[in-house]
Amino acid sequence: MKILVTGGAGFIGSHTCVELLESGYDLVVFDNFYNSKPSVLERIEKIAGRKLKFYEADMTSLASMNRIFDENDIDAVIHFAGYKAVGESVEKPLLYYDNNITGTLNLLKVMRAHGVKKLVFSSSATVYGDPEKVPITEDQPLSVTNPYGRTKLIIEDILRDLYASDGEWSIIMLRYFNPVGGHPSGLLCEDPNGIPNNIMPRIIDTALGRIKNMTVFGDDYPTADGTGVRDYIHVVDLAKGHVKAVGFLCSGHFAEEINLGTGRGYSVLELIRTFEKVNNVSIPYIVTERRHGDIAECYADTSKAFRLLGFKALHGIEDMCRDSYNARIEMLKREGK
Ligand code: WQD
Repeated sequence: MKILVTGGAGFIGSHTCVELLESGYDLVVFDNFYNSKPSVLERIEKIAGRKLKFYEADMTSLASMNRIFDENDIDAVIHFAGYKAVGESVEKPLLYYDNNITGTLNLLKVMRAHGVKKLVFSSSATVYGDPEKVPITEDQPLSVTNPYGRTKLIIEDILRDLYASDGEWSIIMLRYFNPVGGHPSGLLCEDPNGIPNNIMPRIIDTALGRIKNMTVFGDDYPTADGTGVRDYIHVVDLAKGHVKAVGFLCSGHFAEEINLGTGRGYSVLELIRTFEKVNNVSIPYIVTERRHGDIAECYADTSKAFRLLGFKALHGIEDMCRDSYNARIEMLKREGK
């Protein structure tokens, strides 16, 4: 089976490519390197011991998308490509709507024209907004508070409408909670271009002395220790969830939303303390006001992922802290930093 992986050089995309190659799938990958680096591709192949076919391409180019499908007999698509920085999306909404939505519409039109109707879409728990209750089930109300999250929700709505119009599609929308970690080989890690927003790269930069003090955004939330609670999931577990999803695509025609999380929430302070213990480092921090748009608690009900995909996350928070730090250190060594 030949899978097209869009955005396959990114953090989650690259880890998923490894798992797909190791599972015997043939891969065609494209990326525009907006938030990734070409060097990732050779490391994917080194880990998996197999080659992939790569195109440097942008999904906002209909011609590029057509060329990829004209030149390759694609069976299914895993769609990661998209901008994902919440803060940047607030500053540049048109950039996000154009890239994420126009790009996805191009991809879907070309898929349909080539008779490819199996799709796994990289969605996000951000579509739940501030959840009414936790753990969060897939049928809970959806609401978004920033342009990035709105692109995810709009694309989900497009996919639900597409399936309603043509029952030949098999669509899975995977709603990630908080992906962290790195490949145990040390060859792949979260390596955002620019200044990291998410917590784990900032904890790591503090541990490495690149940031003097970690900033804890608020300790007055209605949680056990007052800091935000999130469902952190190891990126290798997330990647394995995609392999399960590709298998499920072949079982019928549907449009299914599925949470990918661990079902366990950890607070910011619990994460910091675990990171310090596991890596034997100190993470000095200061507590500031809450970050605009943040919510108190967000963690997954994982029963649908287990029921439909047989998926269960296996890595714990200590693995996530260890692998995140190790992979980042290995990357800095490779770059001579
Ligand atoms: C986690 C917790 C912060 C940084 C975002 C996107 C979401 C998804 C995952 C793509 C919160 C706290 C953070 C820091 C802190 N991305 N924090 N100091 O906001 O839960 O989700 O990434 O799909 O769409 O919204 O992740 O890592 O930014 O924050 O205290 O320097 O850590 O307040 O409680 P978030 P995050």
